[in-house]
Amino acid sequence: MAYKTIQVKTEGRVGVITLNRPEALNALCDALTGELAEALAAFERDEDIGCVVLTGSRKAFAAGADIKELQSRDQVSLYLNDPFAQTWESVARFRKPIIAAVSGYALGGGCEIAMMCDFIIASETAKFGQPEINLGVMPGSGGTQRLPRAVGKAKAMDLCLTGRMMDAEEAERAGLVSRVVPADDLMDTVMEAAEAIATKSLPVAMMTKEAINRSFEVGLTEGVLFERRVFQSQFSLEDQREGMAAFAEKRAPHFKHR
Ligand code: HXC
Repeated sequence: MAYKTIQVKTEGRVGVITLNRPEALNALCDALTGELAEALAAFERDEDIGCVVLTGSRKAFAAGADIKELQSRDQVSLYLNDPFAQTWESVARFRKPIIAAVSGYALGGGCEIAMMCDFIIASETAKFGQPEINLGVMPGSGGTQRLPRAVGKAKAMDLCLTGRMMDAEEAERAGLVSRVVPADDLMDTVMEAAEAIATKSLPVAMMTKEAINRSFEVGLTEGVLFERRVFQSQFSLEDQREGMAAFAEKRAPHFKHR
């Protein structure tokens, strides 16, 4: 499939999607988010893919929604033809593990798309922010919901109300990113993490992701019950028998479903 605004490749069991609109710092126009949704759907269907990496350029993961495109939209058109519900949320709905590799700007919708991924690994040059308020709007693709869950109320309010950017070090301290690495090491580090994930049992990795995401939706008692039932169900998997047998036999596991 030939894409115009993204690049897609596979390395072993890892799918890599690179946002590719350098002339606009990877601003998320409808064409790009449409292609992103298509690429994710293809990786979701592909049994040989166990983990996906979403990245941008060294200068920008994505500088937000495409402001020039958004400028002419009105309320009815956004309601009737809602790009966020149609394509953007494909990242949040993606069922396999997905890592955001962020270098440079992750602003507005760029920060929101990164937060829809399961975790973010950032380069030292990364800058995160929700500057929508400077444009006379607020975040519209999860920024007011996922950011406070990631960094707490104080910092989310600070970022969304002032529109300021935070650097990678502050983002790591706040819990938005899982690791910060030198820019030159970003892709190697992320690929190593993705390859490690892709060697696990895929259904178990997917269930783990589902359970962690569930913790943001339900209370503790319900969440722990969900976890326990899913854990119990995993004892019907060949991969559970293989994983535990491999440990007892002091060898590496070879999961069937991976
Ligand atoms: C469209 C954009 C863009 C954007 C940058 N460009 N960001 N085009 N939408 N979000 C374009 C510029 O117009 C310019 O094109 C080129 O990319 C390079 O950008 P510069 O501004 O010249 O680069 P620089 O001076 O290095 O500044 C980088 C920057 C700045 C700080 C990231 O570009 C910036 O502030 N961008 C907007 C960030 C933002 O407000 N994001 C939130 C968008 S709203 P030309 O053709 O002029 O060379 C949003 C809402 C999401 O995301 C809601 C989801 C539902």
